[in-house]
Amino acid sequence: MIVTTKALFKHAYGHYAIGAYNINNLEQTMGLFQGNLDSQAPFIIQLSKGARAYTHKSMLEAIIKAADQVFPKAIFAVHLDHGDEATCMDCIQSGFYSSVMIDASAESLEKNIEITKRVVQAAHKQGLVVEAELGKLGGVEEHVSVSEADAHLTDPKQAEVFVKQSGCDSLACAIGTSHGAYKFAGSQGLHFDVLAEIQKRLPGFPLVMHGSSSVPEEEVARINAAGGQLRGAKGVDANQFAKAATLGVTKVNIDTDGRLVWCRVHREAFRADPTNFDLRPPGTIFIKEYAKFIAHKNTKLGSAGQLEAVRAFLAKK
Ligand code: G3H
Ligand code: 13P
Ligand code: ZN
Repeated sequence: MIVTTKALFKHAYGHYAIGAYNINNLEQTMGLFQGNLDSQAPFIIQLSKGARAYTHKSMLEAIIKAADQVFPKAIFAVHLDHGDEATCMDCIQSGFYSSVMIDASAESLEKNIEITKRVVQAAHKQGLVVEAELGKLGGVEEHVSVSEADAHLTDPKQAEVFVKQSGCDSLACAIGTSHGAYKFAGSQGLHFDVLAEIQKRLPGFPLVMHGSSSVPEEEVARINAAGGQLRGAKGVDANQFAKAATLGVTKVNIDTDGRLVWCRVHREAFRADPTNFDLRPPGTIFIKEYAKFIAHKNTKLGSAGQLEAVRAFLAKK
């Protein structure tokens, strides 16, 4: 069942965060639905502009609609990840998405508000909700001076102004994470103080953490042992999700970790059976491993076990 992120956030706020997982293809979709049902979790499917081009937006839509039939007990939202204005408008008009993210974070505060406001107006008219971003995601590394590092983080005062003026429904905050497999050169750099200040200024307002893959050491080691060359990869400690949830984070974005599972499974499968050229054996292993990975991640997010409570909550509304 496709629902809005708004409903999911209402149930989760302050207690747990919902996993927002990027997908590109059929195997990821199968593993994603299976893993969320195995762990009894509501979830968010994220489609990036790149994914919509890779698989074709209509193909992705059809795969997700089919998955909804194959897994009728699943409760999920369909979300555009890091959209520009044109892509947001396309998704809003499609009638398929339940939410969009407008990412105008590279613009000035005024321009970001202006663009976000236009997307919010169009989205709300069609019953969709909007995630916006303020601050610049980037690695906060030990050798970067504090003032330089802070320049990338979301300014809580600006966040308050931004949310009020843009009308967005949730806010992606830069608190020290970055996209990809190389997040921290040194120790963990999550700025919970910034998050706490934003929550104080925007009580009850859903916050989003991007760049939240954990880049598990064991996963990276297995990839490297099977011929990969990922040196110095490092991610976010998944044990920090619970604290983030108490500070208003209701959505945690995870893409890289899923790609690592894909990479490890395929490298190991072809290494173990060099004469194989069939896509199905590694594909079958990947679906199972991805489902396992999702279920484990949901336990860290606290969304595992919430599915029936969410169903009851939605039925009451
Ligand atoms: O934040 C970006 C997501 O990981 C999506 O990546 O644009 O390569 O699909 P992508
Ligand atoms: P990761 O690269 O850490 O998986 O972050 C994904 C993300 O933020 C998608 O919007
Ligand atoms: Zn992101």
